[in-house]
Amino acid sequence: MAARKISLTGVKPSGTPHIGNYLGAIKPAIDLSDEFDAYYFLADYHALNTMRDAAAFKHAVYDLAATWLACGLDPQKVVFYRQSDVPEIFELTWIISTVTPKGLLNRAHAYKAAVDVNESAGNLPDDGVTMGLYNYPVLMAADILIADANFVPVGQDQRQHIEITRDIAVSFNAIFGETLVPPDALIRDEVATITGLDGRKMSKSYGNVLPLMADSKELRKAVMKIVTDSRAPEEPKDPDADNVYSIYKHFATPERLAEVRDLYLNGGLAYGKIKQELFETLDVRFADARARYNNLMADPTQIDAILADGAERMHITAQRVLTKVRAAIGKTTYAVGAR
Ligand code: ADP
Ligand code: TRP
Repeated sequence: MAARKISLTGVKPSGTPHIGNYLGAIKPAIDLSDEFDAYYFLADYHALNTMRDAAAFKHAVYDLAATWLACGLDPQKVVFYRQSDVPEIFELTWIISTVTPKGLLNRAHAYKAAVDVNESAGNLPDDGVTMGLYNYPVLMAADILIADANFVPVGQDQRQHIEITRDIAVSFNAIFGETLVPPDALIRDEVATITGLDGRKMSKSYGNVLPLMADSKELRKAVMKIVTDSRAPEEPKDPDADNVYSIYKHFATPERLAEVRDLYLNGGLAYGKIKQELFETLDVRFADARARYNNLMADPTQIDAILADGAERMHITAQRVLTKVRAAIGKTTYAVGAR
């Protein structure tokens, strides 16, 4: 029987997980875990680029782990781990950085955006740019290549990172022989970019999110903040230009969505009412997950045990891949204490 393909993804613990993360990354990844050998992890050392408070960082790691588990990740089926528990990733980061052209990283979106901001403010181009931000794509490539991953389920914003990973794998293989597996991004069109409260991409960094595990009160408050135009209920509206509809369409039943769409197009849709309906739908949809989440957060030692087991299982894969990389580059002696 042919070996199963591998899917791998990571999410940074850098703030409260939101509906965009759920639809764009968490749910598609969990759905794939039946079909593929799945490796899902908390990209905690990536988050270190922005997390500068130890207590907040620690909380964010538990928060994200509990969210994945509450949303249905089965740690028996998926190898679920914390990036920082897998030292092989950081060795591979160095090795592949030696074959990564600097120009490739100069073109990475996040770095370019930082330079653009500096230039328009009249600052030096690299003002405030850390090596962590600059090397981010190389660490992400190592995350993926260390597992021989074939598919990486992510949102649209990560497409360039997967292309960079492919380029790095191909360069390495051209120099040292076929060793690393160039991965493909798996981006589901319908959830590629979920819009936030203000119509921009829902993102922690824009503060425009619907939090995933919020209690009912907080969730309702966020839903009510979704920006709409000021059209009266009887006026026809374009559902595809509305921020409430663009979120609700992912949660309403097809029958209800057709009715709602009709109300938008033909008049009769009050924004206050549709927001309340969206809130109630989300509140019910995530009620069980929220209870599981609260249970895990009340006793995070449950999370520690699951992540420890995941790290152990990940070491086996990571060691196998790192051993072939070390052999490819001609590293034949092993340091004392090397795994
Ligand atoms: P954020 O932009 O809030 O910081 P991350 O960069 O941590 O989110 O994203 C984690 C995962 O969730 C990635 O796979 C990303 O593509 C996905 N994701 C984030 N925001 C969205 C969104 N608005 N729509 C679809 N997917 C998203
Ligand atoms: N860069 C991703 C994000 O911002 C997180 C991430 C880190 C990741 N390493 C990864 C995603 C490996 C997929 C595969 O969302």
